[in-house]
Amino acid sequence: MTDISHTLPLTAEELRAMKTRGEKIAMLTTYDASMTVHCEQAGVDILLVGDSLGMVVQGHDSTLPVTMEDMIYHTRHVARARQHTLLATDMPYHTYADKQDALVNAQRLLDEGGTDMVKLEGGGAMVDIVAHLTRNKVRVCGHLGLLPQSVNELGGYKVQGREQAAADQMLQDAKDLQRAGAELIVLECIPASLGKRISEAVDIPIIGIGAGNNCDGQVLVIYDLLGITPGKRPRFAKDFLADLPAGKGITAAIEAYVTAVKNNEFPDASHAFN
Ligand code: KIV
Repeated sequence: MTDISHTLPLTAEELRAMKTRGEKIAMLTTYDASMTVHCEQAGVDILLVGDSLGMVVQGHDSTLPVTMEDMIYHTRHVARARQHTLLATDMPYHTYADKQDALVNAQRLLDEGGTDMVKLEGGGAMVDIVAHLTRNKVRVCGHLGLLPQSVNELGGYKVQGREQAAADQMLQDAKDLQRAGAELIVLECIPASLGKRISEAVDIPIIGIGAGNNCDGQVLVIYDLLGITPGKRPRFAKDFLADLPAGKGITAAIEAYVTAVKNNEFPDASHAFN
């Protein structure tokens, strides 16, 4: 459906140009080859092998047990199937605690997994690590707001950045990550007003998940989008398959997500936080 005018993964310049044009970016997790084919056919702009696979695929109650071997294994499946779409992979918990470890592990995800970009969580001390990676030609996506790898420190999966000081710090972290060379930042589970403030303050695209519809793009966990995730789903998640007429399949559900993101119809207020 979407015009695939680029035949190679999006570059940093193309990502910034999409932001400048106001063209919304649709990112989606994928963990295997078949899902990846559906995502590309539906026009997803960025594929993410998220460490959410620890919860939705492996059945853990957090992302903390996910290993480098797990991420390389899933990234390989995705990389084998993808044709042209930018591919990002999460660095698992405790694999980027210092610059040396971060670079060794990021290189493994690139070389052994076949990813284009790594994603890591946090601002503050992470900024120097991001700068070290980008100086060494590793493409980086940051992640601020609710940091699932810090769920124990945060006391659960809660909305972040409601207090002024925390919001100001998140804004500063986003600026610092941009300065360190991050090409994208995911903002998870924050008030929509803060998602807007941060998106307006930086030149690199901000990809929201529970961060309101003024971000430059959106990301979802594909198991949520297809209604596979059992039990209670987060407020920001939407089952796009359930809303389709009978007989429509998986590619159509992902297309509906991509179209809703591009037209700024998703997320609406019922999938965002005040
Ligand atoms: O692990 C993941 O899937 C993620 C997204 C929710 C952004 O980090």
